[in-house]
Amino acid sequence: MKIVVCGTGYVGLVHAAVCSEYGHEVYAFDNDAQKLTAFASGDANRIETHVNEPGLANIIRETLDRYLFFSTDLASIIEGTDAVFMCLPTPPNLDGSTDLSIYDDAADQLAKLLARRKDRRRVVVVNKSTVPIGTARRLENIFKSHNVENFGISSNPEFLAEGTAVAQARRPDRVVVGCDHEQDSRILRRVYSQFVHHVRIKYIETTPETAEAIKYVANTMLLTYISFWNGVGAKIGEKIPNVNIDDLRLGVTADERISTWGSFVSNGAGGSCFGKDIASLINQLRRVNVSTKMLEASYEVNEYQKIYLVDRAINEVGFKFNNKIVAVLGLAFKKHTNDMRDASSIKVVESLLGKGTARINAYDPLANDSAKSVFDPSKNVLFEKIDYFDSAKAAIAGSDALFISSDCEEFRGLSRTVEELVKAPYLIMDGRRMIPDHSDLVSKDYSYIAVGSMLMGPTLS
Ligand code: UDX
Repeated sequence: MKIVVCGTGYVGLVHAAVCSEYGHEVYAFDNDAQKLTAFASGDANRIETHVNEPGLANIIRETLDRYLFFSTDLASIIEGTDAVFMCLPTPPNLDGSTDLSIYDDAADQLAKLLARRKDRRRVVVVNKSTVPIGTARRLENIFKSHNVENFGISSNPEFLAEGTAVAQARRPDRVVVGCDHEQDSRILRRVYSQFVHHVRIKYIETTPETAEAIKYVANTMLLTYISFWNGVGAKIGEKIPNVNIDDLRLGVTADERISTWGSFVSNGAGGSCFGKDIASLINQLRRVNVSTKMLEASYEVNEYQKIYLVDRAINEVGFKFNNKIVAVLGLAFKKHTNDMRDASSIKVVESLLGKGTARINAYDPLANDSAKSVFDPSKNVLFEKIDYFDSAKAAIAGSDALFISSDCEEFRGLSRTVEELVKAPYLIMDGRRMIPDHSDLVSKDYSYIAVGSMLMGPTLS
């Protein structure tokens, strides 16, 4: 099949690469020439400065100029295309609704070219990025207004998680394809022929609107599940003596209907999808006068959870942040990424600075540079109080307290480091339960609070 992918962000590039690996002829289009030159170099370092996903650079190197091509000129690649995948950014507006301006511009540009094409074969235009329910229909209207002939629209949402995107694209749980016409479904079955009859992959064909809704309901359900654990499971462990949150999790998730994923209590879920998608779904449902109480609760529990440990430090431990130095470890929204979008650390840092913290010693193995642009002192002068360090050790040295905000594996070994570098009284706030061997520290009078457990060690008032 000849495939065009519009937009080479994380979704588009992974899709283009994996489709090329399956022997399709794939043309990836983007306006950003500098980015495409980096991808077309086949050089892993250059590719990874833009999209860093394990295994991705390898596929690009192997399929480049044989099955995979990059172009900034949509007109030159559109002839004879079977399917065009729209993989464009859809950022949130302030009211939670989705900003479709980038998407609309690309749809307009595409419609003009498709209306002029010489080859009149059937072409399906497929939405892959997350767009509000009804956007495929809106695409159809744009195409009709430009008199495009012999086209179909489709919704085929991606469900990739960062860091494992290539593995998931090669072996997804399910492929969801929403089309209006059998001839379009047939084209997409050929695009995804390796998945259609797979024994363990569900290939689901439905309407475009249902496919769009599947994506929102799935992400909202996942965030609700995390918020249930953070809002209920974790609180039981924090408030009721003798409840062990780890055993609680094992006992509950032993029920095969309930998943372990999402049951790992944390200082909130971050990332580019959950917050944005739940806000967008709330906005979409409000417009049709549906109560969104439950979704709002999931969202709010998650947002408050991000800074909850700071409040616990004040209320339970009696810790005074004023003029203190706090080490914050784990700036990205999870391990193995430099992505700062919606990262819990943003709320943590803002909250700490708002409570009068003198300096923040920040460290992340991958995200120090992206954090610097988020915590830009020209946006908020308080961000001048952040110093960045090359190791957890260097960040902890000289601090009065430590906040662990992501699940980087290296943080698991921190108990000895803390003991060597800083003396009690000292407060550890563990947002990811990364220090299971905290009992030694506690016996030496360090104060330890973790999401899901009661205060251990002394209060510090
Ligand atoms: C997510 C969804 O998994 C994916 O299907 C969707 O398409 C996009 O959003 P991603 O943002 O890459 O993917 O991150 P994911 O690995 O799902 O983690 C999201 C957040 O939840 C992270 O901050 C993570 O640390 C947190 N999390 C995850 C928990 O707090 N507890 C858990 O048990 C699991």
